[in-house]
Amino acid sequence: MKQVAATRSATIQGAAHAKRGCARTHQHLNERNGTVVVRATPKRVNAAAAPVLNTTESERIFTEAQDLLPGGVNSPVRAFKSVGGQPIVFDRVKGAYAYDADGNKYVDYVGSWGPAIVGHANDEVNEALKAAIENGASFGAPCELENTMAKAVIDRVPCVEMVRFVSSGTEACLSVLRLMRAYTGNEKIIKFSGCYHGHADSFLVQAGSGVATLGLPDSPGVPASATASTLVCQYNDLEGVKKLFEENKGEIAGVILEPVVGNSGFIPPTQEFLQGLRDVTKAEGALLCFDEVMTGFRIAKGCAQEHFGITPDLTTMGKVIGGGLPVGAYGGRKDIMQTVAPAGPMYQAGTLSGNPLAMTAGIKTLEILARPGAYEHLEAVTSRLINGIMDAAREAGHEVTGSSISGMFGFFFNAGPVNNFEDAAKSDGDKFARFHRGMLEQGVYMAPSMYEAGFTSLAHTEEDIDFTINAAKEVFKTI
Ligand SMILES: Cc1ncc(COP(=O)(O)O)c(C=O)c1O
Repeated sequence: MKQVAATRSATIQGAAHAKRGCARTHQHLNERNGTVVVRATPKRVNAAAAPVLNTTESERIFTEAQDLLPGGVNSPVRAFKSVGGQPIVFDRVKGAYAYDADGNKYVDYVGSWGPAIVGHANDEVNEALKAAIENGASFGAPCELENTMAKAVIDRVPCVEMVRFVSSGTEACLSVLRLMRAYTGNEKIIKFSGCYHGHADSFLVQAGSGVATLGLPDSPGVPASATASTLVCQYNDLEGVKKLFEENKGEIAGVILEPVVGNSGFIPPTQEFLQGLRDVTKAEGALLCFDEVMTGFRIAKGCAQEHFGITPDLTTMGKVIGGGLPVGAYGGRKDIMQTVAPAGPMYQAGTLSGNPLAMTAGIKTLEILARPGAYEHLEAVTSRLINGIMDAAREAGHEVTGSSISGMFGFFFNAGPVNNFEDAAKSDGDKFARFHRGMLEQGVYMAPSMYEAGFTSLAHTEEDIDFTINAAKEVFKTI
């Protein structure tokens, strides 16, 4: 894509970068002061060993943060608890890259945990935001941007006929839960172990990455009454779902799931599972909700529901639709959405909901994603990446299993198959920790937990992917 090539030439230090990709001893350009640091590739990668990477500033800032913020962070999985070592403190991001407080540059596969699908700090999104801020950062009153954004979502997402914007994925999911209950008059819901739907009380049961990474079975502070109506089943287990419907006849409001799991590592559904959920919910008078906070506009232009050809009743969204600003949304069939206040009796509100800056960033992001070749690019770079990493791992004698769809990928140190959280949990976490630290030292930033999916963007180039595969080859030899 033209736009990708332009971004790349503006941001990459071609020669030094290429060199980093293939040499055992590589030059690492310190982006902050322009000096070139020659780093020896470590012989043995060990999370506990003294880091080869200079992270003096990261350590200073994070040490201070631990006195100021619980655990030094504002969201737990950022804390590197499961991979060891201190987190890297970011200074800025651009395109496919993140730059830390010490000036080290990384090819980034976290993408702010999903939103950065058109590349970090995309010039067009930035320009739109600069223009929008002149009109004010928040209105607290209707504005036409909300209609434009709503039309963009309704046009793209098969199940959405009407939408409510909120400020986070958590807010979208807790609101949709209330909506499923309000619409059906039933209280019980079915979720799947390893699926995360934000941190509302009712969902904090076997909730995947964040809690699993910290080894928390469930969170204290969640009253038993809040989770009493939450039934949990294994992902990809249709018979288990049918059994729950049998045992709770006429009492289930709905089923919520990640249509591709990204919070237990990357786990795709079987087509039969999704189709079976659609059939059983319809037959039992329950609602089906796809939580597309992570998969929305990433798996396909019309989200995972378009990719798999299964239309749920409701959908939650977030991440990508905010273009990096805080946004969530829930939407679906009009007759269901009309239950939401003030159209209907189910109360849900938000001071910053439909915020004009967030709408602006989202509209521009969806516009860029709708251009020809966008999803082809995501598919091409991501499959090249996952195939390259898997080949490199196997050549070095590691048992791995993994895959990708569009701009989302993941692999496990596990012979597989991985169909649910329980399978994912059998992976070699210590090996993942060594892999993660090794990749950081090679200039690649991956999510600091084996229970997280990875993300690519329109700004990732084939050169970035090959650089990453070469880095992985080096690391796989040492772990
Ligand atoms: C599938 C899914 N649902 C909901 C959420 C919660 O979104 P947020 O972190 O914006 O509250 C997440 C966050 O990662 C998610 O992956």
